Parts: sequence; structure tokens; C-alpha cells
Amino acid sequence: MRVAVVGSGPAGFYAADALLKSEDPQVEVDLIDRLPTPWGLVRLGVAPDHENIKAVSRAFEKTAAKPGFRFFGNVEVGSTVSHDDLLEVYDAVVYTVGAQTDRRLGIPGEDLPGSWAATEFVAWYNGHPDFQDRRFDLSCERVVVVGNGNVAIDCARMLALTPDELGPTDTTPEATDAINEAGVREILMLGRRGPVQAAFTPPELKELGELAGADVIVDAADLELDPASAHALEEDRERARRNYELLQEFAAREPEGKERRIVLRFLASPLALVGEDRVEGVEIVRNELVEEDGRLVARPTGETEVVPAGLVLRSVGYKGVPLPGVPFDERSGTMPNDRGRVDGAERTYAAGWIKRGPSGVIGTNKKDATETVELLLEDARAGKLVCVDSTLSLEALLDERGVTYVAYDGWQAIDAAERAAGEPLGRPRVKLTGWEQLLATGRRS
Ligand SMILES: Cc1cc2nc3c(=O)[nH]c(=O)nc-3n(C[C@H](O)[C@H](O)[C@H](O)COP(=O)(O)OP(=O)(O)OC[C@H]3O[C@@H](n4cnc5c(N)ncnc54)[C@H](O)[C@@H]3O)c2cc1C
Ligand SMILES: NC(=O)c1ccc[n+]([C@@H]2O[C@H](COP(=O)([O-])OP(=O)(O)OC[C@H]3O[C@@H](n4cnc5c(N)ncnc54)[C@H](OP(=O)(O)O)[C@@H]3O)[C@@H](O)[C@H]2O)c1
Repeated sequence: MRVAVVGSGPAGFYAADALLKSEDPQVEVDLIDRLPTPWGLVRLGVAPDHENIKAVSRAFEKTAAKPGFRFFGNVEVGSTVSHDDLLEVYDAVVYTVGAQTDRRLGIPGEDLPGSWAATEFVAWYNGHPDFQDRRFDLSCERVVVVGNGNVAIDCARMLALTPDELGPTDTTPEATDAINEAGVREILMLGRRGPVQAAFTPPELKELGELAGADVIVDAADLELDPASAHALEEDRERARRNYELLQEFAAREPEGKERRIVLRFLASPLALVGEDRVEGVEIVRNELVEEDGRLVARPTGETEVVPAGLVLRSVGYKGVPLPGVPFDERSGTMPNDRGRVDGAERTYAAGWIKRGPSGVIGTNKKDATETVELLLEDARAGKLVCVDSTLSLEALLDERGVTYVAYDGWQAIDAAERAAGEPLGRPRVKLTGWEQLLATGRRS
């Protein structure tokens, strides 16, 4: 059997691995990515100072070394090749394309210069070739980060790292310089609900309290709980309880007067971003929690204030984008599916964030991809997956269209060049960040 897996992030690699393990039927996998480089958010999302997490790529390298695996970088499904092209060449297609855009706040001023989606900021400091032209003005005193998830924490922490902390990471040289030279003194994180409802996880919160160059500030009054939150805290002995204890510890701290401050505020939503030609401040409303359909949601109280800020990072979640010819549910930003079988689409499957939405850590995608592959193999054994013409190949199709793809050895050439550039600087790598550079290094000889 030949299967195309589209998207080479964690879900793509876990799906490829599960397929390659199958003995009945035996499967060959072509892993396709629009970028010349594999690993998805492991390379371009996970924070550069979390090198130990990026090390999961070693497991992906083992998958790539298995017989039957091929990588096709610089091949975008939906433009370079279509869904129908893939159905002609392959017995089945598994989409693992992740969530490529951001959720919107839907408030006035959201598109003022100086207001950015966290997705853009993250992609910029991580060296994504599509985001290197972004210019974040870090000369302002205060940055507001909207959202209370781990991505918001990543953004706040990255802005607060000292040159010594940033030095040994693979943050791009441009982003490293910009952060080192930034005038930012305060990073204000806004959570629309209370401390018990925060989406971030304890290890990530704890790290905020361990930064060399930033005090973490929490107002004890923000930690006073309404009865429903107090009850929820009793129920949740893991994440919420540990988060709450850490926040209490932060609130009890005397600030040390470090160069930057990370301030965590709760029950606060942006009503509007204000400013003449660019962001000059955020109008914030105080919220209260009310129960709605068994869930505690934020309701504005009417108590507002304007906080001056020169940069806003909106970190309220990622969102999937549709692929031409493949069913898509706008509301959830996913491919509608039943345990990975895409609804109403023959021989088409999904795994990872495009299957279940933009949440969960790297490991979550393993179970998720395995579930999808089990169903795919079940369908194969039931004789439901027969491709149209088994003599066609993706390479022939790409040759015909004059597309030069980056094969796995091309990626290895990019990888080696980046590591070599990083070595003398004590960095794991210096990423190639331009399309031209990446393609020139990775192109098949
Ligand atoms: C900023 C950030 C930091 C994170 N940090 C951590 C962390 O520290 N630890 C942790 O465990 N988890 C972390 N996560 C979560 C983790 O990254 C995700 O769970 C995981 O990456 C989702 O995997 P995926 O394969 O579904 O999507 P992705 O990793 O997004 O991979 C999707 C791939 O599909 C490709 N693609 C998209 N469209 C097309 C197309 N049309 N044609 C071809 N290819 C396409 C993309 O280029 C990409 O390579 C983080 C997430 C974010 C956003
Ligand atoms: N180190 C790590 O392990 C790591 C690092 C980064 C990311 N990740 C994972 O990647 C996934 C995605 O992370 P994420 O931070 O993008 O998403 P997330 O965990 O879903 O957090 C999104 C945050 O945005 C808030 N929000 C949503 N809409 C809002 C609005 N209109 N106004 C104000 N706030 C709003 C949410 O609040 P409500 O709860 O009120 O909706 C929530 O606090 C998560 O599973 C995360 O754990 C892990």
C-alpha cells in the first residue's frame, strides 16, 4: 500500500511510524510538507529555550530512517498538488496539516499596527520562512499578551529572557538582537477568566518565576476565589491546584527590581485596542464568572480602564484552515471526522490538530495518530482502499509540473548546515530562514 501523509509535524511523523509498523498490509509512506523542513511546530512553534522538548525530533529521525519512508518538502497540497492528485497516486491520504492560523478576538482596533497574533510572533522568533519580514516594535515599555495558555506564557517568557538565557538557543539572530535591545519593561498577561480556569500548565508557570531578568507579579486580590472556582479547585488536584499554589507563591514575593516584569492579571478582557495610527493602549474590562451550560464563563462587569501599551500579542488559540476539495468545519477549524475517518471523503483521514483542534502537547498526537492509522488499516484489510492508477507517482507528477522538492537527504543537508553554523556560537543551530537559502541547500543534486 502507498499512503500519503500530508504535514510533517508530530501527528504526521506518528502516523507515518504507525503505518510503517504495519505488516498486514505492508505500507510505504510519502510524508509531504509545504515547507522544505520537517517537524512542524517542533521546529517552528516550541520555544527555542526548550531545547529538551525539541529533542523529540530524534524519534522522528528514527521513523525517517525506516525502509518505505520518503520525505517530500516544498510540496503544498492545495496548490502544488491537489487532493485529487493524491487520490490518484495513493491508496489513502492522511492529513496532519495542523492549525495554520490564529483565532480572532473580534474587538475594535484588532488590526491596528502593533497588534499581532501570537502565531506570527512565535513563527518569527523560531525562523519560519513565511514570517521573517515581520517587524515587531519592541521599543515600547509595555507589551500586553492576551490569553492564558502555554503559548501566551511562551511569548511572555521569550520577551523576558536575558542575553545569557537567549544566547544558547536557536532563536533567530534577528529575534535575539531585537529582544536583547528591547525597551520593554513590562509584559502584562491578561486572562479573561480566573486563576483556577487558566489553561497554562504548572511547569510552564513555574518557569516564569525562575527567570534571571524578570520579576513575576501577581496581585493577591486576583487570587480571591468565587465559590464555584473554590469548588473547582477542590476537584482539580493536579493542574489547577498546582497553578494556584504557584500563583500564591508569586503573590507573596517581594519584587527584586529586575529589569523586566511579567504581570499576570485575571478576570480581565480587552474590550478594544486604542490608538490613532497604531496601538497605544488596551481598554480592559473587569469580568466576573458566571455559570453557563455547566461551565464557568467570563461576563464583563462594566468596570473598565485603559492601560498604555505599544505592542499587543493576541494568544487566544490557533485555528485550522480549509484545504480545497477536503471537507472542513469552519466553526471548529477541523476536518469533520469520526475517529480520524474524514466525513464524506473517500480514502481520506486526519490526525493531530486538524483532526481534533489546536490543543494538546506533542505526545497527545501519538495516541491520536495511532487511532487514525488503526482505522485506515482496518479499511485497507476490508478492501476499501484501492487507488485509481498504481503506476502514477508523486515524483513524476512533480517533475511534470517543474517542481523541485526537498527530499530527506536535502533536509539532512539543511540540518547539517544549520548545526555547523550554530556550533562555534554555542547554539544548537542557526536556522536558515529564507526560502531561497533553504531551497538552495536542500534541493536534490
Ligand atoms: C507555540 C507553540 C509551542 C508549543 N510548545 C509545546 C511544547 O513545548 N511541548 C509540547 O509538548 N507541545 C507544545 N506545543 C504543542 C505541539 O506543538 C502540538 O501538539 C503539535 O505540534 C501538533 O501537531 P500537528 O502535527 O497536528 O501540527 P503541526 O506541528 O502544526 O504540523 C503541521 C505540518 O503541516 C504542514 N502543512 C500545513 N499545511 C500544509 C499543506 N497544505 N500542504 C503540505 N503541508 C502542510 C506544516 O508546514 C507543518 O509542518 C506547542 C504548540 C505551539 C503552537
Ligand atoms: N510547554 C508546553 O507544553 C506548551 C507550550 C505551548 C503550547 N502548548 C500546547 O499547545 C496548545 C495550544 O496552546 P494555546 O496557548 O494556543 O491555546 P489554549 O491552551 O487553548 O489557550 C488559549 C487561551 O486563550 C484564551 N482565550 C480564548 N479566547 C479568548 C478571548 N476571546 N479573549 C480572551 N482570552 C481568550 C483561553 O481562555 P478560556 O479558557 O477562557 O477559553 C485560554 O486561556 C495547548 O494544548 C498547550 O498546552 C504546550
